[in-house]
Amino acid sequence: MDYVTFGRTGLRVSVMGLGCGGPSRIGQGSGQDESASIALVRRALDAGVNFIDTAEAYGTEAMVGAALHGVDRHKVVISTKKSYRKEISPALVRQGLEESLRRLRTDYVDIYNLHGVGPEDYGRLRDEILPTFFQLRDEGKIRFIGVSEMFNEDKTHQMLIDSLPDNVWDVAMIGFNILNQTARNQVFGQTQAQNVAVQIMFAVRRSLSQRDKLVEALQTLIDAGQLDPTEVDLTNPLGFVLEESDATSLVDAAYRFCRYEPGVHVVLSGTGNPAHLQANIESLSRPPLPEPVVQKLRHLFRNASAVTGQ
Ligand SMILES: NC(=O)c1ccc[n+]([C@@H]2O[C@H](COP(=O)([O-])OP(=O)(O)OC[C@H]3O[C@@H](n4cnc5c(N)ncnc54)[C@H](OP(=O)(O)O)[C@@H]3O)[C@@H](O)[C@H]2O)c1
Repeated sequence: MDYVTFGRTGLRVSVMGLGCGGPSRIGQGSGQDESASIALVRRALDAGVNFIDTAEAYGTEAMVGAALHGVDRHKVVISTKKSYRKEISPALVRQGLEESLRRLRTDYVDIYNLHGVGPEDYGRLRDEILPTFFQLRDEGKIRFIGVSEMFNEDKTHQMLIDSLPDNVWDVAMIGFNILNQTARNQVFGQTQAQNVAVQIMFAVRRSLSQRDKLVEALQTLIDAGQLDPTEVDLTNPLGFVLEESDATSLVDAAYRFCRYEPGVHVVLSGTGNPAHLQANIESLSRPPLPEPVVQKLRHLFRNASAVTGQ
């Protein structure tokens, strides 16, 4: 496992972060036993993954907490998130963090994120809720403050475009993948200028792990006029990636594509499957895809913004 400095947090983090949400929720999404999810987290830790992303909304904090039992707390970077959509107030933030800490069996989180912020809500949250995050940081319960976007609804990163100039976020969770590379021009310049730590979500999701979903996504882009139909073969979608590189699968290529994007620190990988976990650890330890393949992918999807890979 390779490690990088996580932007201005200065934390040393593994290039792969274990995402405990997404469709898999470390196995809870497919009804696995909690013990299997706990074992999956432990496997990741044993393989050198030291960055774990969860959220109060995922229902996986307690499993992360159980997996961390007996592990040196200072060797692990825990990121969790506060939801706001149902109800939010300074008191609920305090209460939510205390509950997350109890489930995670710790007395601080390394990164506390506002979860899935939409552009329409950003100003209100900054003015009414962020001060409480600062207080909790002063009290030592949070080390760094992060924000995650609502990528499926905000496919071109409006919330981040609006919020980054405030320069209050240490960490940003950003949607980016082969099919939607808009973050490159929309936000990575700004995050790099401020040395904001960037964690990538949606590197693979469903469109890059399931062939029928990939065809569907490519068709959506063609219908939106964002992908040239003469440049893709829907009977062998993105087949050139495997033919012209050492990628072992499209999933392998997708993680590597994200890992080597300038401005990216951590690529989150979400899975409930131990074999996938092992494969993804290997993918994120491999070198970049050959430059001609990367350039071809950049060119092909240069206008694509209508899908997220969901
Ligand atoms: N707004 C937000 O704050 C927000 C939104 C979305 C996600 N997130 C965070 O980002 C993390 C990453 O997103 P994600 O969970 O969607 O992760 P991802 O790694 O992009 O994709 C996960 C999907 O790919 C499949 N997969 C993973 N490895 C595979 C492999 N080697 N072969 C075949 N299929 C594979 C998984 O199924 P299997 O279980 O079968 O492997 C799952 O369906 C989340 O877990 C969460 O922590 C945050």
